Amino acid sequence: MANHELPLTGQVALITGGASGIGEAAVNMISGAGAAVALLDRDQEGMKSVATAIEQAGGRATAHVIDLLDTDSIADSVAEVLSAHGRIDILVNAAGISGNSDEILEQSEENWDRVQTINLKAPFRLIQQVGRHMVERGGGGRIVNITSSSAHRARQSIAPYGAAKAGLAQLTRTAAADLGRHGINVNAIAPGVTKTPMTKGIGDDAAFQVLVEEGPLANLLHRPSLPEDVADTVLYLCLPGSRQITGQTIHLSAGAVTA
Ligand SMILES: NC(=O)c1ccc[n+]([C@@H]2O[C@H](COP(=O)([O-])OP(=O)(O)OC[C@H]3O[C@@H](n4cnc5c(N)ncnc54)[C@H](O)[C@@H]3O)[C@@H](O)[C@H]2O)c1
Repeated sequence: MANHELPLTGQVALITGGASGIGEAAVNMISGAGAAVALLDRDQEGMKSVATAIEQAGGRATAHVIDLLDTDSIADSVAEVLSAHGRIDILVNAAGISGNSDEILEQSEENWDRVQTINLKAPFRLIQQVGRHMVERGGGGRIVNITSSSAHRARQSIAPYGAAKAGLAQLTRTAAADLGRHGINVNAIAPGVTKTPMTKGIGDDAAFQVLVEEGPLANLLHRPSLPEDVADTVLYLCLPGSRQITGQTIHLSAGAVTA
């Protein structure tokens, strides 16, 4: 590697949920490391502003509108990314929804299906589509799935979300087992409560501080997680230094979940 070359120069990353929050931070982090980035999101305006800022800073970014509820459209979107960039080396599954906050006895099947489709089935289809490309290209690649501490701890009013994210954690392990011989590392990051548009209902900085100091979401560092905290670990899982890590979930919750 020449001195001026960044670690991901020449690579292409497909990142879902890149218009906002953790996905947006991952887009910026991976682009900053030299990769071209392809954003997949339903939020066209959000993607446009993230991609424009990257291009203005001298990076390469494309935006691809998709509603991940329509999982049959995923193959076309991946083909679109391949036609724009020629290859995909990194897949980050960051798009997700929390769904409603009804307790289990009031849960609707409609909400259950929606949460499973966006948070679990869509990543499965993306891993298949991108994984096939990586294998056909001769192997090698990195896949990072954003799960949640809610996959590992009992919390009220979040049954569909917790189940989908626990499914994604196990999909991470099984995909790692199937794709390992092709040199493809598959890992997950399980963030604790993180300041993003998804959690804006929690309130202001003071409300977040109370949450990380007390109660079931308290963490050991007494500091709320920011999208960049998660994105730093996404980047690590895409760099050569993490080459022997696969099938893992990294708990990114400042110790709120330790195993
Ligand atoms: N914020 C947290 O506290 C937290 C904690 C743990 C895990 N997570 C996970 O991190 C990931 C990112 O969440 P965030 O907090 O940045 O939220 P966010 O709402 O800021 O970002 C989610 C992104 O996903 C996109 N998206 C949602 N549904 C989509 C669909 N049907 N089709 C295409 N795009 C869709 C949205 O447009 C948005 O850009 C999610 O998977 C979430 O479950 C978040």
